[in-house]
Amino acid sequence: MTETQRRIAAEAWAFRTRVEHEAADRFTRLATAISRFDAASPLPAMMQRAAEDEQRHAALCAGLAAIYGTAATGLAKVVPIAPRSLEGRAAVLYEVVAACCITETESVATLTTLLAEEVEPAVEKVLRAIARDEVAHGRMGWAHLAREAARYDVSFLSSWIPAMLSGTVEETLFPEAPPDDRDLLRHGVLPPSRKRAIFARTLEEVVMPGLETFGIDGAPARAWLSARIR
Ligand SMILES: [Fe+2]
Ligand SMILES: [Fe+2]
Repeated sequence: MTETQRRIAAEAWAFRTRVEHEAADRFTRLATAISRFDAASPLPAMMQRAAEDEQRHAALCAGLAAIYGTAATGLAKVVPIAPRSLEGRAAVLYEVVAACCITETESVATLTTLLAEEVEPAVEKVLRAIARDEVAHGRMGWAHLAREAARYDVSFLSSWIPAMLSGTVEETLFPEAPPDDRDLLRHGVLPPSRKRAIFARTLEEVVMPGLETFGIDGAPARAWLSARIR
């Protein structure tokens, strides 16, 4: 492993550490918000557990960052991500769909892809531990969306999906990404081109069909995707 590769792997795991911490904060906040307007919902309890999962993931990722030589620091302050024009309950729905239906679903696809590769034993252990939980975190989003869709028309989300995509994944997909380097796969770093391909496929095959079952039109999201990928 070259020094550059080591640095890229360390930065990737430090970045994931921050993302996991942010997810923990977000789930704690969403649990409180949902319990205020839907006392019978099972989601708040699930989200509290998910927040604990994310803290555990953060520790695992920080451990790998340290192995590759970087101390993962800098806890980002997480702010609500919904646009201001959405009121309380719709804003929560926006955030749950972005965080769970999109981000967690994409995360599962990425982890599954990495686990199909030959990865370092220490990395594999972390990937497996995280993948198990993220599947459940994605389901929380669909469960909340189903509860809300049973009460009111959620089709307004359609025009917001591009903003969600920009807000949740653009940073990880289109940064000044390191060049494609297959050697980094075994350290848990996907080549950016591969990452974008997985993202596009998961969006088209899992996320959009899932949203469409709730009457959320996929056209704006598909336009967003085709303007950026391929
Ligand atoms: Fe996580
Ligand atoms: Fe998660």
